[in-house]
Amino acid sequence: MRRLLILMAAIAVAAAAPAGWIGRLPGSVPAPAVPVDNPMTAAKIELGRRLFYDADLSVDGTMSCASCHEQRHGFTDGNAGHPGVHGDPARRNVPGLANVAWLPSYTWGNPRIRSLEAQAMVPIFGTNPVEMGMRGMETELVRRLAADDCYRRMFAAAFPASGGRIDIRAVTRALAAFERTLVSFGARYDQEGSLDPQARRGAALFRAACASCHSGRDFTDGRFHRILPPAASDRGLGEITGRKDDDGKFRTPGLRNVAVTQPYFHDGSAKTIADAIARHPGRRPPADIAALTAFLATLTDEKFLTDPRFGLPDRACGKAL
Ligand code: HEC
Ligand code: HEC
Repeated sequence: MRRLLILMAAIAVAAAAPAGWIGRLPGSVPAPAVPVDNPMTAAKIELGRRLFYDADLSVDGTMSCASCHEQRHGFTDGNAGHPGVHGDPARRNVPGLANVAWLPSYTWGNPRIRSLEAQAMVPIFGTNPVEMGMRGMETELVRRLAADDCYRRMFAAAFPASGGRIDIRAVTRALAAFERTLVSFGARYDQEGSLDPQARRGAALFRAACASCHSGRDFTDGRFHRILPPAASDRGLGEITGRKDDDGKFRTPGLRNVAVTQPYFHDGSAKTIADAIARHPGRRPPADIAALTAFLATLTDEKFLTDPRFGLPDRACGKAL
């Protein structure tokens, strides 16, 4: 009996944190918080990955999450903004998704979106701007997914407690589980002692002038600051709090893979890293900007950008998609 209990405990832990997920974390990195009602399982991650790449999540079947969040660009898309399905112009630049599991809040300017489950509702059902355009189409979305025999089996494996119920809550939970696996700690920066002199000089400058906001493992304090002059078209944090004082404040972006996530800033208005640095307050000699840029280039994790586990799935339920 004792042995059975130990075995059951081991299974419970494995279900909450499949080896394939924890295995991606270096020893020094603590696992991120995961909502108690959405434990990580391999079946759920697999389902979330398929949903992430499925254009059926958009009203006319033309746009998936990956249309804007492309792996090779660190899950951004290389444009200042990506219009929605109806051509609504984008309001903001697509942020990357490396290590999103550790962020305290989501999107550029909203401290109230505190889980990936909640965030996933925004692109699918949001109207400011319309992105995937599914507002009011919840039943249709469920109908589409349930019409697919393989999806029915994947939901059953991912959500056994509800008997594989296909609903919006299950969709957003699976998407969030997949997003939590988008872990990037394999950059040159992460390998002790591998920076060249120019990047090392940049690292020292960065610690002195940048790390107060771009702090920690992911180079963000998760807080909101004003770097650019406020613009009426996007008040940022002020839009949420209603305080004039917060106008123009945006969450410090993390900088992992920043060399491949251009253009920069919430409005995509900086084309290069050098341009983004130069537009921060304070004057810096070009040589310092070059050193900082060299340092930031060491944050690129090639493996993350090409890892097939994060890419378009080519099979589901043992069959080619
Ligand atoms: C039309 C392009 C587009 C599509 C499609 C899209 N996104 Fe995004 N995504 C964005 C933009 C733009 C933002 C920033 C929004 C903001 O700050 O208001 C964003 C923000 C995010 C964030 C927050 C990241 C952070 O750093 O806070 C996550 C997570 C995310 N998207 C996941 C998804 C998922 C999951 C889907 C599919 C269900 C999806 N996105 C579909 C453009 C898109
Ligand atoms: C006061 C806090 C603060 C300091 C100090 C700071 N940054 Fe930033 N940084 C931000 C914020 C906030 C943004 C986003 C601003 C926006 O989009 O409006 C940003 C944006 C960036 C971006 C663009 C990233 C992206 O994905 O869009 C880069 C690159 C960057 N900072 C590098 C630096 C460097 C290098 C330094 C030091 C020279 C520095 N920052 C100092 C807060 C800060």
